[in-house]
Amino acid sequence: MAKIIVVTSGKGGVGKTTSAAAISTGLALRGKKTVVIDFDVGLRNLDLIMGCERRVVYDLVNVIQGEAGLNQALIRDKRVENLFILPASQTRDKDALTQEGVEKILEQLKGDFDYILCDSPAGIERGAQLAMYYADEAIVVTNPEVSSVRDSDRILGLLGSKTQRAEQGLEPVKEHLLITRYNPARVTSGDMLTLDDIREILAIDLLGLIPESEAVLRASNQGVPVTHDGSSDAGQAYTDTVSRLLGEEMPLRFHEIQRKGLLSRMFGGSRR
Ligand SMILES: Nc1ncnc2c1ncn2[C@@H]1O[C@H](COP(=O)(O)OP(=O)(O)OP(=O)(O)O)[C@@H](O)[C@H]1O
Ligand SMILES: [Mg+2]
Repeated sequence: MAKIIVVTSGKGGVGKTTSAAAISTGLALRGKKTVVIDFDVGLRNLDLIMGCERRVVYDLVNVIQGEAGLNQALIRDKRVENLFILPASQTRDKDALTQEGVEKILEQLKGDFDYILCDSPAGIERGAQLAMYYADEAIVVTNPEVSSVRDSDRILGLLGSKTQRAEQGLEPVKEHLLITRYNPARVTSGDMLTLDDIREILAIDLLGLIPESEAVLRASNQGVPVTHDGSSDAGQAYTDTVSRLLGEEMPLRFHEIQRKGLLSRMFGGSRR
């Protein structure tokens, strides 16, 4: 039976889609059969980041409206076995997504997959609530800024009240904090909240910390999730994050300013 994980945030543009793509890739690389669903009707970003936009024929809304079967809409990832993408519709109105429709699709996918990741749209309105409604776990993506932390806090409120688990009095949705775009230099200079500030305010389990990284931009331009770039800081940080999601203990990395090595300090090199 699949675990359903929503990747959510409240605030827009914090790195949900980047994280959904990177984490689903990481889970599949670890042998877990994974599907990642784009709930962002109207924007359709996930397929670009996953590099499969030209292979989209049918989407989530087509399946809900009975115009295509689930197997016709699922796109098999070209790079990783066991990874599938269910794209969002680009053109239809947002009301095309119904709760019953979403439930039916998740029920069908559940028996066939180990993990179902739901990439939520921004905001706290209907679209975001639909993406989280059936979740077992939530990855709350947060940037080290006051506005992002505030919106994450609102999302935590919704996870505790407006999900199926909350409504039916089941075990609550398991909440994980994923801090993204963390820049230790800007934290030190006081421009951004520190890791400890964020943890203190949100008070949920820290799943991972992803540094601000050019590798993310490169990866999304190429349509290759950054997890594949094992030499990059962000790629390694997402791989650590996936290990923790699978229950492994991993030390936290990339939260401190990289100290220059002795040689480069002695000779004043600019290498990091
Ligand atoms: N760790 C990172 N380092 C640098 N840039 C990043 C990082 N994570 C995300 N970004 C950039 O931030 C922008 C927003 O990322 P993304 O689309 O994943 O956010 P989102 O939360 O899904 O946005 P939306 O709310 O619009 O769905 C993108 O340009 C992405 O490349
Ligand atoms: Mg997005």
